Amino acid sequence: MYAIKTYNLIAEEGLRKFEAENYQLNETDNPDGIVLRSHNLHGMTFPSQLKAIARAGAGTNNIPVQECSEKGIVVFNTPGANANAVKELIIASLLLAVRPIIEGVEWVKTLKGPDVEKKVEAEKNRFVGSELAGKQLGVIGLGAIGAMVANDAYRLGMDVVGYDPYVSVDTAWSISSRVKRVLTIEEVLTTSDYITVHVPLLPSTRAMISAEKLLLVKKDAVLLNFARGELVDVEAVITALENGNLKSYLTDFADERLIELDNAVVLPHLGASTEEAEINCAKMASKTLKYFLETGNIVHS
Ligand code: MLT
Repeated sequence: MYAIKTYNLIAEEGLRKFEAENYQLNETDNPDGIVLRSHNLHGMTFPSQLKAIARAGAGTNNIPVQECSEKGIVVFNTPGANANAVKELIIASLLLAVRPIIEGVEWVKTLKGPDVEKKVEAEKNRFVGSELAGKQLGVIGLGAIGAMVANDAYRLGMDVVGYDPYVSVDTAWSISSRVKRVLTIEEVLTTSDYITVHVPLLPSTRAMISAEKLLLVKKDAVLLNFARGELVDVEAVITALENGNLKSYLTDFADERLIELDNAVVLPHLGASTEEAEINCAKMASKTLKYFLETGNIVHS
């Protein structure tokens, strides 16, 4: 019988639903394993018996991974388990960037009286958008989410270029042969109409979209960041938006400096917030943790 501590309800539900029989859940302060979503473990004193931490999600930046590894505590995530949810939100955001859907819906709500149809026909030219098809999407990072975004954008008719110096996407994640892989991030930045970032937050990737890099992008480019807020230098993004060197910034990470800007669209970290993704992550985290505690091996399932 293994003791598990959870730091959120969904993961706990996952454990109860799928793997509860061999666990004591939240009954001790000295667990063998931890399952968590976004709870911050930096600064925590680790229980003496702790062997593994399962992050029900992709990023592990809320866990002091280096310290864990020095203490022999294994940390793993749930690769791909919420990728579809994040991808769908990014595709929706791309579509919202080119079609004023929200503005149109809000405007129709303001129309009163019997002549709604006439008013709509008279004024709908205010809401002319543009199309994604034929525009170039640059994908930085071709892991699970980046590869899915690349494939779907290609299916929407976009020209897609992808950059990833580490992952062999041809073997790791299936990616359309029509997605052109390029060898430098500079090529993505200088040629793309839309740029989307899909890399983990590491010391080497923090603020990787820097002032210097932003000078390379097209003036009417749109930057999307649904990976981690700290991957971009927010001050540099604001300067680029204010100087007209970037058309807009779409992000899933709230930052008070961005909220007031007209050309920044800020979502409240909704990427993985679907019922399906939460269950998938909880299931993979709990199954993988159980298998690790029983065998010492990490096999995601
Ligand atoms: C992830 O890291 O998987 C996503 O940002 C979603 C989340 O944090 O739960």
